[in-house]
Amino acid sequence: MALYPRPRSALIPVLHLAQEQDGYLTEDAMVHIGELLDITAAEVYGTASFYDMFFREPVGRHLISICTNVACMINGAYELVDHAEKTLGIKADTTTADGEFTLEEFECLALCDKAPCLTVNWRFFGPVTNQDFDRLVDDLRAGRLADVVPPHGTLCRVRRTVGLPAQVPFPGREGDPMKKPVRDGDGVGAAAGAPAPPVDKRTPGERVAEGQQPAREGAVPQVDESAAQILGPEGTDTGPTAGGSRAGGGT
Ligand code: FES
Repeated sequence: MALYPRPRSALIPVLHLAQEQDGYLTEDAMVHIGELLDITAAEVYGTASFYDMFFREPVGRHLISICTNVACMINGAYELVDHAEKTLGIKADTTTADGEFTLEEFECLALCDKAPCLTVNWRFFGPVTNQDFDRLVDDLRAGRLADVVPPHGTLCRVRRTVGLPAQVPFPGREGDPMKKPVRDGDGVGAAAGAPAPPVDKRTPGERVAEGQQPAREGAVPQVDESAAQILGPEGTDTGPTAGGSRAGGGT
């Protein structure tokens, strides 16, 4: 919680941790989180029930979310859902009897150029044909994708151990930065009356050359090991990168 400006700011990351531990958010966990963050259990429940990345009922070891939004729909998403229901022997929004798979429809997974697409435990696959789906299910059941698809609830296998920039007071501003408006016309983070921060006129290439910004195209993301505790042999898995309206963010 020390990573955040105030305890309640840790609510969503802590909910993700609880879900990673138990597979879903138990009532006990939500009550405990409320005590931990000094907020009511109702506030915890209100957040947990608002975001559809959080589950308050048990889900399968593999959560399969098939996008049925426009791009995927016109590329056969509903046919894929029908096929998935037959293959798994369940309807959408239910779980197989052996607890292996939960199937759900989802709205825009932000992988529209690979329609129709799906995620398994927030990892992306697309475009997916019926045959691809059957192979995917076989591979998941046999554990052949364990390196790529971690257990349900695992968002990110790299843990952040340093605080947010919000803990640093903005230039020219005294006290708690959260108590004053962040945006006042002089740009994000500028205090009223304070001089605007200097504009960085360097090109992205120049910043890359000076080691201040990773190259965007074709670059392998670098993990700052001084700021991250790497869990598991995969190490550099940074979790999902998109998720529409879902509650996201690493923990
Ligand atoms: S419409 Fe399916 S990912 Fe966007």
